[in-house]
Amino acid sequence: MENDIIYMDNHATTPIAPEVLDAMMPYLTTHFGNAASSHLYGKQAKDGVNKARQQVANLLGCLPEEIIFTSGATESDNLAIKGTAYAQKNNGNHIITSTAEHHAVLDTCHVLEKEGFETTYLPVDRYGMVNPDDVAAAITSKTILITIIYANNEVGTINPIREIADIASKHGVPIHSDAVQGIGKLESGMGVLGLDMASITAHKIYGPKGVGALYNRTGNPLQPLSYGGGQENGIRSGTLNVAGIVGLGAACETAQLAMKNRIEIEIVKPLRDKLHEKLTSQLTDIHLNGHPEQRLQGNLNISFKGVQSQSLLMGLKKVAVSSGSACDSEAVKASHVLTAMGIPNELAFTAVRFGLGRYNTEAETYIVADEVTKVVNQLRELIPD
Ligand SMILES: Cc1ncc(COP(=O)(O)O)c(C=O)c1O
Repeated sequence: MENDIIYMDNHATTPIAPEVLDAMMPYLTTHFGNAASSHLYGKQAKDGVNKARQQVANLLGCLPEEIIFTSGATESDNLAIKGTAYAQKNNGNHIITSTAEHHAVLDTCHVLEKEGFETTYLPVDRYGMVNPDDVAAAITSKTILITIIYANNEVGTINPIREIADIASKHGVPIHSDAVQGIGKLESGMGVLGLDMASITAHKIYGPKGVGALYNRTGNPLQPLSYGGGQENGIRSGTLNVAGIVGLGAACETAQLAMKNRIEIEIVKPLRDKLHEKLTSQLTDIHLNGHPEQRLQGNLNISFKGVQSQSLLMGLKKVAVSSGSACDSEAVKASHVLTAMGIPNELAFTAVRFGLGRYNTEAETYIVADEVTKVVNQLRELIPD
């Protein structure tokens, strides 16, 4: 059954592009072999994996052998951070990250702290951006890793990764970035970004869920986290998810083409700006979270003063978006990213993230703006004077 709800949650996940699905289909049916087998079925699978490794390397501007396939960015982040910490433990025990990272990074650092590692959580400014000077000031003789998100998944703010990477390199400290949201939309060349490691995942770039990769620069030491069949040069054992990997490769190729055709800049960003303009002209007391310019082209994170985001989401019948707060078993919590940016709780609890993507249309931005306006006005009328 087709959904008739407008999808504007492309930072959470993206639909699979038709060309990606087409590329995957043979590997879900006839080409079902294990890429490690020596017979024809194995060779077919291995050929698919090799092609995908090259496609990912093309997007990242790196060598195919620098790509380690994983189950997604959570695993890639864990592998980069824990794998570096264990490989470098004789050189120090200090990690630098920021307060606005994804939980895949933050929680991995928390776990390492229980094992004797120490983490510095750098503050971010009111737009969610890390100051490179803070990175430089935090480095000590014991620093073994710097890990800073490329583009924030909630507010879209783009960090000055190249500047931070230059500082890391000057001090001889390995640098990793959770590059999930930026890759395929922003500059994606590892040579240009200057990273030693970068995490990516297929499902944010119109590929399947449950597959991703870690770029690991040649010579950068990493200790494996799982052992077994010795796949991926012994760094990540386990039978390869061939169909998923083929999907990741195809998604990287389409992302490269989309970047060449300036889809995010010339199509997605103008739609995002139209939605913002329309909301601003129809509603009072709305507040943009995130950097006004240094922001992902499809990201619009807005606080609607006085309107709890959970209530707004429940009221929106035609639109799929995300709230800036997360429910856990105990209570609704304000987003740690908005809190790190110094956004007060009363605004953080009213934040909604619109994530526009390749398949949104101008007509949809008008429908979404009108429905949001209607529901915000209805909910504001219920607020006692
Ligand atoms: C910035 C960032 N890092 C990591 C992840 C986790 O990625 P995956 O779902 O592939 O494990 C996500 C997705 O939610 C993300 O947005």
